[in-house]
Amino acid sequence: MSKINAGILGTGHSYPKGILTNADLEKIVDTSDEWITTRTGIKQRRKAGPDEYTSQFAVRAARNAIKRAGIKAHDIDLILCATVTPDQILPSTACLIQAELGANKAAAMDIVAACSGFLYGLELADAMIRGGQSKYALVIGAEILTRYVDYTDRSTCVLFGDGAGAAVLGPVGANRGILAAKIRSDGRYEDQLYAPGGGTKGGFSAETIARGDHFFRMKGNEVFKVAIRSMTEIATEVLDEAGLKTDDINLFIPHQANQRITDAVASKLKVDVSKVYSNIAMHGNTSSASIPIGLDECVASGRISEGDVILMASFGGGVTWGSVVMRW
Ligand code: ACO
Repeated sequence: MSKINAGILGTGHSYPKGILTNADLEKIVDTSDEWITTRTGIKQRRKAGPDEYTSQFAVRAARNAIKRAGIKAHDIDLILCATVTPDQILPSTACLIQAELGANKAAAMDIVAACSGFLYGLELADAMIRGGQSKYALVIGAEILTRYVDYTDRSTCVLFGDGAGAAVLGPVGANRGILAAKIRSDGRYEDQLYAPGGGTKGGFSAETIARGDHFFRMKGNEVFKVAIRSMTEIATEVLDEAGLKTDDINLFIPHQANQRITDAVASKLKVDVSKVYSNIAMHGNTSSASIPIGLDECVASGRISEGDVILMASFGGGVTWGSVVMRW
């Protein structure tokens, strides 16, 4: 068993200035603030402008995280960027971030695990640091989901927003940092949330674009049920592995997909509502960015103290899911 533990040394986040409110959406599709608020908890989401792209927000979030970690970009050995909305198909967004930061010692790659991408990154970084292959890892979740949203489809366009969150991981003392982590997938549910066009299977042409094949399609009701079940199960497993009980948790940061999903998972896990973080009203669902944005907001507002036990759980397209418990 490795003696090195990996913990989060610094966090950061960034999002576009542009705001899309429920009132704005009422003018675009047949929806209402009342429906969106009661069914999802969302009041507004950030929306990138046409000239903005994913790595810009990722780099701003990363710079904050690096500064707060008290290290330099050239100390980083590993950059993992979780995104389903990369700047371009090649090279990876992580490589573009690596160049922009001047992290000239770092390996860099993207993780495509939708909303679970940040927790996938934490688990991989944890393994690399505990195994001695990396000392400092930068894990980022960054998305411009609004580019892939069909604003004629009211069942998806009200949910998604843009932003980026980042964390620098490094070695920490015994019984600190990541205590247990698990990530899973089940590709048999591929059609619950997917974009059919743009790849080697669906192709890309004037016809696929006219059909909107590059937009996200979602079976919201089915995602809803699988999300609650899988997040509850994996968070329970992770707590068991760490030898912790629900009462030991100081803060629960679930993926922000829908306030009703958050409430249902917290209730099944029996986590008191006062310990559950939610920013869905302000950001909507930012996929891989939602947990690191939440984490950084909690750090900035003083909601996290040294020694606190933090539980995170996520679920996303793929389908993928994961959970991490850590002592700050
Ligand atoms: N405004 C008004 N009415 C709407 C809207 C809207 N924006 N969207 C759907 N409706 C209507 C439907 O057409 C339906 O009408 P009908 O009864 O006349 O047919 C009615 O509202 C109910 O629709 P449901 O889909 O049953 O509504 P539900 O309560 O399930 O809420 C929602 C839909 C919000 C999508 C919910 O299912 C959900 O949050 N699912 C999870 C989605 C999710 O988290 N996806 C992301 C996964 S993570 C990732 O990888 C990015």
